[in-house]
Amino acid sequence: MKIETKCVHAGGITDTVGKGLNTPIFPSSAHEYLDSEDVAYPRYFNTVNQKVLVSKICDLEGAEDGLVFSSGMAAVSSVLLAFLKAGDHVVLQDELYGGSYAFVEAFFNRVGISHTFAATDPASIESAIRPETKVVFIETPTNPLLSIIDIGEVARIARRHDCLSVIDNTFATPVNQNPIQLGMDVVIHSGTKYLGGHSDLSCGAAVTTSELTSRIKETAVNFGGNLNALTCYLLERSLKTLSVRVNQQTENALQLAHFLDEHAKVRKVYYPGLADHPNHSLARDQMRGFGAMLSFELADSRLSADDFLKRLDLIKPAVSLGGVETTICDPARTSHAKMSAEARAEQGITDSLFRLSVGIENVEDLIGDVQQAIEM
Ligand SMILES: Cc1ncc(COP(=O)(O)O)c(C=O)c1O
Repeated sequence: MKIETKCVHAGGITDTVGKGLNTPIFPSSAHEYLDSEDVAYPRYFNTVNQKVLVSKICDLEGAEDGLVFSSGMAAVSSVLLAFLKAGDHVVLQDELYGGSYAFVEAFFNRVGISHTFAATDPASIESAIRPETKVVFIETPTNPLLSIIDIGEVARIARRHDCLSVIDNTFATPVNQNPIQLGMDVVIHSGTKYLGGHSDLSCGAAVTTSELTSRIKETAVNFGGNLNALTCYLLERSLKTLSVRVNQQTENALQLAHFLDEHAKVRKVYYPGLADHPNHSLARDQMRGFGAMLSFELADSRLSADDFLKRLDLIKPAVSLGGVETTICDPARTSHAKMSAEARAEQGITDSLFRLSVGIENVEDLIGDVQQAIEM
């Protein structure tokens, strides 16, 4: 099956009671245990709705098994701590979602795990690997500067050094990129974003092999970041339209990127679909589409972020991303606020950087709104 068909049909179970086309919602937290080998319990990640949802996400990502979580950070923290213990070392690329960065910075020293943030390229990642390195963690395209790292190359490096390779695939989604096919071991999602797609769910996922899923589960049951039945159902429903949404969002983003790129009042546009993006050809090779996130800086640095954001009518300044509606944020104050000003400056996350999460609206309406705000 192609991805569009998988989105609609993968996973799911037959409703033998009502003969409905959708997976029924099974909200029980207590299940009978006599004659049952694997007693269902929500925190054991083995209820019907959790399993159905996992099988759909696995189909989309080409994975064997996985777990669904109550947030993307529950997935990130459970996966990292499943494979790391005191004395171990982890290499992460430096351009990382601010929450993942803050988690590693704030928590790992306390439990005796050391870490290195390496520049977002395979050579820097390889040179940061030490004998005690157990995990390599990447994210591509990156948040918020949309850098692209060679997934296959990182996977080969990790394997050569006997490390587990983990990728946060939130920005690309399985519609635009399948990291497991490129050699990565574990794929993580903040389902709160594109997988949910309507800015009304908090959820996460980690998918991989059956063996590695068992390892993650041993840790995850103790942290308790499982997903409830109702949200499983809603996420499963959202996934049926994932490819339609993401393809439209990606198409709109490309047109918006071209518009911004050609505008005299825009200093710089960050979008891997633009021919002058430094990793454009790599993005072409490893992605099916360039995604629906883009960032830009205005030429007039005297204009405050608030003043610009208040000029927009249709596009709302909002945190989070990946919904059907186009939103905008200034990462220095939102997604990357927990990073020090120096760390942000080192990466090029300036106070006048804006990040757009492009939705499914008519692109002419979107361009019109951005244009009137820029030219006001
Ligand atoms: C790339 C990426 N990964 C992980 C997360 C964390 O997800 P959640 O907010 O669902 O915990 C986010 C949230 O913004 C994100 O953008």
